[in-house]
Amino acid sequence: LSTIRVDVSGVAPGTQLTVKWLGKPVFIRHRTGAEIEEAKEQEVAFAAGESVVDTNARNANLADSNAPATDANRTMPSPEGEAPQAWLVQMGVCTHLGCVPLGDAGEFGGWFCPCHGSHYDLAGRIRKGPAPENLPVPPAEWVDDSTILLG
Ligand code: FES
Repeated sequence: LSTIRVDVSGVAPGTQLTVKWLGKPVFIRHRTGAEIEEAKEQEVAFAAGESVVDTNARNANLADSNAPATDANRTMPSPEGEAPQAWLVQMGVCTHLGCVPLGDAGEFGGWFCPCHGSHYDLAGRIRKGPAPENLPVPPAEWVDDSTILLG
């Protein structure tokens, strides 16, 4: 099956669910308000050119394949009643050589790939290390307020 439905009703803010899609891990992160605020601060630093590796959003859901890697362009639209940019869905596959990065880790508080030391920020952008690209955002949409369709 190339599409799967994921029930995210149990994914509390500050936690992440990992599911398998097309044989690969997908990270579904529910951010807290504090994480959203920190992500905004990281975006300011990113826009200023600090530790920038890849400026492309790498988001399959955007019509523009050259869309910039802003926080809004990396996150999902939020369901009704939820803060904007509360949900980040991305492939859990390091863009260097394909290891699975660890969550809540690394110098930017996002993900850290222990294989060769790649640091991703709270929006899954690569900020330091050998990985060349941001973690890709797969096709994803809300079916209802607690179900995400991947693929
Ligand atoms: Fe992730 Fe090399 S595979 S840093």
